[in-house]
Amino acid sequence: MWYTVYKYNFSFIIKVLRKLVSFVYFTQCSVYSMMYIVLNMKSTKMKRGKNMIISCANEKGGTGKTSTTALLGWELASLGHSTLLVDCDPQSNLTDLMIKTKSQENTEITIDPSLFALLINHRDLKEGIIRIKDNLSLLPVASDMNLFSRWVDKQELTEKEKVTYLKEALGSIKKDYDFIFLDVSPTMSLTNDNVFMACDWLIIMLQTQQRSLLGAKSFLEYLQTNLINMFDSKVDVLGILPVLTKGQSKIDNSVLKSAISEFGENNLFTNVITAMERVKRFDLTGITEDHKNVWDKATHSVYTAVAKELVNRLGVK
Ligand SMILES: Nc1ncnc2c1ncn2[C@@H]1O[C@H](COP(=O)(O)OP(=O)(O)OP(=O)(O)O)[C@@H](O)[C@H]1O
Ligand SMILES: [Mg+2]
Repeated sequence: MWYTVYKYNFSFIIKVLRKLVSFVYFTQCSVYSMMYIVLNMKSTKMKRGKNMIISCANEKGGTGKTSTTALLGWELASLGHSTLLVDCDPQSNLTDLMIKTKSQENTEITIDPSLFALLINHRDLKEGIIRIKDNLSLLPVASDMNLFSRWVDKQELTEKEKVTYLKEALGSIKKDYDFIFLDVSPTMSLTNDNVFMACDWLIIMLQTQQRSLLGAKSFLEYLQTNLINMFDSKVDVLGILPVLTKGQSKIDNSVLKSAISEFGENNLFTNVITAMERVKRFDLTGITEDHKNVWDKATHSVYTAVAKELVNRLGVK
């Protein structure tokens, strides 16, 4: 009993101290304060386990969000976790990649109804889901998703309802999957606000380029100011995932060093994504997994390591 009381008080004191530090940082309006708050919510929430909605994010374009989403989903499915990929980016890169992958089976696929049509007509999102392989499904997007921001903004809804529209729609399928990944465009919009409000966790993509580091920082700032402070979003950062541009080059190492000092070593994934020609090839061929092919094997092993770390970070058995 005395132990429980002691433990409780101790964690209370830690919480108060954390809030105090955040406040001091916050009043200085420093970018670091924003990150401090976002990255330290983890310890107080204990939001762990399955049925999680996750997005790979960075404000900068071309940081590997879509490729990583597709391959993490692929590996998680291979590890036995039921996974759904939802393409929320009107560019439809994830949809194209997964449809190419599925087409290797010579199956004809039509996207009907589109995600946008399902959302605006209040239809069950299940109606748009396509099976890709065992444990892996896709909810594809079409270019009409470009209209979503404008459409939702015109509805007679409160500001909070406007940013939680997608979250509400996903509510009916969340329990059906261990992991749901939402792929986003690099532009900040009401559509992306909807995506981040729907997420339990974010993986911040950090390509080892100075601009990507700045993109990660300004994205965290945006998250804190516009979604956490304004709408009480419960989204949290699962980790910063480095994507090496060259692999052990001077610039890779220097950006990684800066990232460690900005975010703290524990907040960076231990497993990193290296630059692999095979990932680019997947854009043309769809994802291939020929167990006799050395490049396929090497590529999948990199993403499998990250998928296993993700599962560990979430405390999933
Ligand atoms: N590990 C990798 N090795 C080599 N090339 C990669 C890797 N990851 C992604 N790429 C390539 O980098 C390019 C951009 O990747 P991707 O489309 O995943 O980025 P993105 O962040 O989703 O872009 P956008 O912001 O436009 O949505 C693609 O051509 C992709 O094939
Ligand atoms: Mg993309």
